[in-house]
Amino acid sequence: MADLPRGRFIAIEGIDGSGTTSQTRALGQWLGQRGHAVLETREPSRGAIGTLIRQRLSVAAAPLEPAALALLFAADRLDHIASEVEPALAAGSVVLSDRYVLSSLAYQALDCDAAWVREINARAPRPDLTLLIAVPVEVAFARVQRRMVDEGGVEERFDALALQRRIAGHYEQFCGDPALGPVHIVDGDQPPERVTAALMQALIALGL
Ligand code: TMP
Repeated sequence: MADLPRGRFIAIEGIDGSGTTSQTRALGQWLGQRGHAVLETREPSRGAIGTLIRQRLSVAAAPLEPAALALLFAADRLDHIASEVEPALAAGSVVLSDRYVLSSLAYQALDCDAAWVREINARAPRPDLTLLIAVPVEVAFARVQRRMVDEGGVEERFDALALQRRIAGHYEQFCGDPALGPVHIVDGDQPPERVTAALMQALIALGL
């Protein structure tokens, strides 16, 4: 039997409240309707290391030492790639990851040296494309606050406005890093369907 063509690996990125999770879902549905096999996944992953990270991100839990947290994110990533992403790509699927290496640069560089964060992530394969949803910090922050009230979400460690401002600055600073591969920035401060349409255009340009 002929080998299946290798799939495509797409990362979806942005500050908290930028809509990465709902847009990943919308793109997954659309790609499925276009006849692609799709794996919708996320980081922190659903695996053992990702589950541990999520527990410790809650403000109710004791904080992890920042460098230890950065190493856990990098370890979760390699485990996620080996256990879920690579097999799906080998089977020809389009893999959509809600967050990937750019998240580590944007968030872990709050407390750790960015060059070191890049180094511990050097073994993570480059996505074919990273989609960065850019939303003004105040808009994204208001969305997160609303979600906490409406859905009773868990407050996480990086949720404070001042931190989100610094994280947004890091996204701007690091999105041109050649180690990440191509990054396409989409304006996320518009109705969700228009954001989805702009993201779809980027995937169409990639041949999907
Ligand atoms: P989520 O809220 O998008 O599910 O992500 C959980 C939090 O983890 C979010 O605040 C971003 C943060 N994060 C990092 O700090 N580093 C990383 O490498 C990843 C993947 C997420």
